[in-house]
Amino acid sequence: MATWVERGLILVIVGCLLPAILVESRVRHYKFNVVLKNQTRLCSTKPIVTVNGKYPGPTIVAREDDTVLVKVVNHVQYNLSIHWHGIRQIRTGWSDGPAYITQCPIQPGQAYTYNFTLTGQRGTLFYHAHILWLRATLHGAIVILPKLGVPYPFPKPHKENVLVLGEWWKSDVEAVINEALKSGLAPNVSDAHTINGHTRPVQNCNSQELFNLHVKPGKNYMLRIINAALNEELFFKIADHHLTVVEVDATYVKPFKTDTIVISPGQTTNVILETNKKAGKYLVVVSPFMDAPIPVDNTTGLANIRYATTGLTALTTTLTAPPPINATEVANNFTDSLKALNSKDYPAKVPQQVDHSLFFAVGLGVNPCKTCVNGSRVVASINNVTFVMPTISLLQAHYSNISGVFTADFPANPPTPFNYTGNQTIANPGTSTGTRVYRLPYNATVQLVLQDTAMITPENHPFHLHGFNFFVVGRGVGNYNPKKDPKKFNLVNPVERNTIGVPSGGWTAIRFRADNPGIWFMHCHLEIHTTWGLKMAFLVDNGKGPNESLITPPKDFPKC
Ligand code: C2O
Repeated sequence: MATWVERGLILVIVGCLLPAILVESRVRHYKFNVVLKNQTRLCSTKPIVTVNGKYPGPTIVAREDDTVLVKVVNHVQYNLSIHWHGIRQIRTGWSDGPAYITQCPIQPGQAYTYNFTLTGQRGTLFYHAHILWLRATLHGAIVILPKLGVPYPFPKPHKENVLVLGEWWKSDVEAVINEALKSGLAPNVSDAHTINGHTRPVQNCNSQELFNLHVKPGKNYMLRIINAALNEELFFKIADHHLTVVEVDATYVKPFKTDTIVISPGQTTNVILETNKKAGKYLVVVSPFMDAPIPVDNTTGLANIRYATTGLTALTTTLTAPPPINATEVANNFTDSLKALNSKDYPAKVPQQVDHSLFFAVGLGVNPCKTCVNGSRVVASINNVTFVMPTISLLQAHYSNISGVFTADFPANPPTPFNYTGNQTIANPGTSTGTRVYRLPYNATVQLVLQDTAMITPENHPFHLHGFNFFVVGRGVGNYNPKKDPKKFNLVNPVERNTIGVPSGGWTAIRFRADNPGIWFMHCHLEIHTTWGLKMAFLVDNGKGPNESLITPPKDFPKC
């Protein structure tokens, strides 16, 4: 038995240690068993690839500065890798996840532990498989809370909820994409949009109920909305309610009110929902945004915001209609409203001068294909390069100086300038193929103009850059004008994010600082466009100072 004096001493010691323990960053362990799961949605009984049998997968919750260890065990028949979309992975490219870019896939029966620290980020992100089309069902939320004791830069919400938007195919997604690659044509569009795994109800199918979000009246709820769809940009709207946007892609924005948000695959948006209406059910609608003549899944995903009531009276549902599919105005209004918070605590560190000025023409193309249905196949390219996946990862080749895997000569400009958004009456010349990367010295500043082309058809391309956030300094329709347009750039408070739409027949300009050594993938987050080759990678050299080099690869790093 400890004496009173000893007990007092222990109390004093514990009392001193406690605050330290509370603020200290933690290590969070997760185990992801990737397994096939039987399910019934839309009358289909195909098994799906999931994390721990869940669709969407489990949410990772951690705080800024925590280290996250995720042991992924592959129990399915496919090669596998998982990407932690939007996590900066400073010096830890080995844990980024895109197959054949930063790692060889985890083979069936094998395991790999992703190990990364959440540095300088807080908000909503997500993880997804980054090989084949497995991310259709293998994805889930990542919630990064602020450091302990650090408040949100807006009133603390009563509760927080994750809403994962997805796309559902009745048939096996691997069969869908394989069929498309064989024929050279576009793949079948999905059959439903899901909200937290729930499809709309379908008659005669043993389908689930709509997803219901139960709320109390007179409160603020934070909705963490994630677009985990493969190929569709989405509108999101709640009947009779305004939403206050407070964060996108895990960066705080200047709050603004809207009734509709637009969200591209790869993007996340946090909104505050004020439950200031009378008791009842309010319909949530999720529908595609497509302003090009391209077929999409034109079904509407549905859910309910359901106010808790004490009485037994049946709740009436307030309905709402989604915007028209080609509501470019609605999408532009939303995008133009996004500005960085740019406060004292969260300044927008926009690079003011540019070391590397790049201009990438992005779009579709047609290459010959003897075995395809039309004798040709749809491809996609950046500066006329259709990216070819290597057979070992670029990061390994770079780290171990293995030659012959890639060339560091990705073109900074299109090989021949043309009227990018003009009428494409000229015969499509076909694209070149190659595994080419663009090399950047450590800490270089980059301005990149992404110009959509009208090859085949102009189309919106949500571009995602791994390893960095970038600032969206400008955006316009038609061809980018290098003389006039930079004068209109916002270099003060542009929104900071990791995925941005290049508008149909227009351009977007981004800036970032290459302060993260490694190999970083950049691609259109419409999975079909990535598959067709709308992708490239940056090679960022090590810096000279301490903590400016890529760390050594982990012991269990997968082999090809
Ligand atoms: Cu969310 Cu390379 O992807």
